[in-house]
Amino acid sequence: MNSSMLRLAAAISLASLFSLSTQAADSKGSVEVVHWWTSGGEKAAVDVLKAQVEKDGFTWKDGAVAGGGGATAMTVLKSRAVAGNPPGVAQIKGPDIQDWAATGLLDPDVLKGVAKDEQWDNLLDKKVADTVKYDGDYVAVPVNIHRINWLWINPEVFRKAGIDKAPTTLDEFYAAADKLKAAGFIPLAHGGQPWQDSTVFESVVLSVMGAEGYKKALVDLDEKALTGPEMVKALTELKRVATYMDPDGKGQDWNLEAAKVINGKAGMQIMGDWAKSEWTLAKKTAGKDYQCVPFPGTDKAFLYNIDSLVVFKQKDKGTAAGQQDIARKVLGEDFQKLFSINKGSIPVRNDMLADMGKYGFDSCAQTAAKDFLADAKNGGLQPSMAHNMATSLAVQGAFFDVVTNYINDPKADPADAAKKLYAAINAAK
Ligand code: GAL
Repeated sequence: MNSSMLRLAAAISLASLFSLSTQAADSKGSVEVVHWWTSGGEKAAVDVLKAQVEKDGFTWKDGAVAGGGGATAMTVLKSRAVAGNPPGVAQIKGPDIQDWAATGLLDPDVLKGVAKDEQWDNLLDKKVADTVKYDGDYVAVPVNIHRINWLWINPEVFRKAGIDKAPTTLDEFYAAADKLKAAGFIPLAHGGQPWQDSTVFESVVLSVMGAEGYKKALVDLDEKALTGPEMVKALTELKRVATYMDPDGKGQDWNLEAAKVINGKAGMQIMGDWAKSEWTLAKKTAGKDYQCVPFPGTDKAFLYNIDSLVVFKQKDKGTAAGQQDIARKVLGEDFQKLFSINKGSIPVRNDMLADMGKYGFDSCAQTAAKDFLADAKNGGLQPSMAHNMATSLAVQGAFFDVVTNYINDPKADPADAAKKLYAAINAAK
């Protein structure tokens, strides 16, 4: 457990002495679900689950906490846990699941029967299953898989700016961005929130350093990789990419920036494929109204992000049936298809990933599934740092601070920023 989780655990053991049960009782039981799927497109996706669970007779208490990337939701969750009142289900991802499980607050028993009946071990890749297990037991259900390293393009805007093809290298990206700028468009829609800055940063690192370099630097946190010439180059390129970002984007939500590409004010956005949920909501078609291409230089790699829903121990034993129903529905074929079509992700089930055409997934999702399976074999599949899959949240916070300060400081020096990165990560470990 890292130090912030240790503090959390201590606070929780005190708070549990004074806690009150707040579960509402009704016939089949009610479950509160804390998540951060609050953009229009994401809400449409989560409403699929809500409808299925309600159809089964359970009451869905929506615990949506606005804020892309989930930092605000995590803060709310920690204070709820400290107050002895965690929700029945919450969106938590990656290594953080292990830290939460170590506090003893997650329920290792409630999903046992469902996982066995529905053969989760067979449905899921081992890497995925291990992420949501603690000490061999499922403490969460994985929902979907997102790819981070995408570039979203409005082809109509590209045409107007005289650009005839999607960029495949950083140089082509800069050339396209220059043309967009000259034609009066925002080249790169981007909201300057730390998690969005780091989403761009990790795509640029992947492009410059390759999957192996990415792993050494952002997953293994190796000193040489974090401070060496390749990282300095990546930071130099990041600074250049940043010169094309929306000047009105400071503090802006990702979906409002996506809207600028959809509405033809901007040409491109670097964002994970939840961005597609906004295009889908606007009734736009992949390959026709918009293009999704791997971020330049990253077509052989896949930064993954697995959304998952953990189950918390509840005082009201009646909640278990609702938690189990949610888990059963989430890994069902019907939900896997409908949710990901709305959300822009791909299913987490192996059988579905191998047969995407059958389920009516569009070209972006089919490319993602094909690349996910191929990159899992060649080392190109790497966990996203910016989306909680690679490090503890404390280390991620160190990345966020240094990267965002670097982007916003006009005098910042890339070699100096690389050193600061290493120092901040070490202090956070
Ligand atoms: C990611 C999450 C996605 C999406 C995105 C924007 O971290 O995995 O499901 O919600 O943030 O908020």
